[in-house]
Amino acid sequence: MFEIRPLSNALGAEIIGLDLSQPLDDATFSTVHAAHLEHMVLVFRDQQLTPEQHILFSRRFGDLSGHVFDQFLLPGYPEILKVSNKKRDDGEFAGLPQAGRRWHSDLSYTATPSLGSLLYALEIPPEGGDTLFNNMYRAYETLPESTKVRLEGRKAEYLLGSARKYYTAEERPPLTPEQLAKVPPAHHPVVRTHPETGRKALYVSHSHTVRILDMDEAESEALLAELTEHSVQPEFVYRHKWRLRDLVFWDNRCCMHIAEPPPPEYGRHMHRTTVVGDRPY
Ligand code: SIN
Repeated sequence: MFEIRPLSNALGAEIIGLDLSQPLDDATFSTVHAAHLEHMVLVFRDQQLTPEQHILFSRRFGDLSGHVFDQFLLPGYPEILKVSNKKRDDGEFAGLPQAGRRWHSDLSYTATPSLGSLLYALEIPPEGGDTLFNNMYRAYETLPESTKVRLEGRKAEYLLGSARKYYTAEERPPLTPEQLAKVPPAHHPVVRTHPETGRKALYVSHSHTVRILDMDEAESEALLAELTEHSVQPEFVYRHKWRLRDLVFWDNRCCMHIAEPPPPEYGRHMHRTTVVGDRPY
């Protein structure tokens, strides 16, 4: 048997005593699935996973997507994105650098954004490089009624941060014209309904939401800033301090996350799988 221990009042739980390198029987899988829906972020400690085992566990939740930065997919494993601050001998980045430096939900800039992501820590710095997660159900539920009414039926435009030129070429390679063509803007509801729990969650982020549609630009900017500030207040946030060989699985339909940069002298190297989700409604 394994244990499920909540990690904060906001969201997150750790799973102790479950070996994900072994196939999970249906009853165990159901318990993990239910815990994921309840806690939104699950931290599986002490995992020894090959890329195949990481992929097999991730696939229990749905199909996996690659990534527009296809040069950072693990050779032979197009389902795994390398996230890394390290450089190879030839001076190129070993994985996607500067990943997640602003609050966001993975792939919210695509037509069918991600259900969840599973990030596996292969090398961590002795300090720094934490990842923070927030609870977007609570962010929605605690909005003033007048704001909820203002948001009802509203849609917004979402665009990948790199397509918005957030990064210098030194921080992250710019998208090639072919990559840019794969990430046109997407339109989604500002408040989405989680397809499994039926609960409403706020769905805008600093990184990917460009503007609220059918709204004056200044009003949209101000509202997005207000919603972002509201949704990342400390009581809605869990800070994850990584341990080596943690596998963290978060629900992109009801959380955002942000990665703090590790001290530059230390390596941080992770493998991420990304489960495909539904079109938000
Ligand atoms: C990401 O945004 O998926 C990267 C998160 C991290 O590196 O902690």
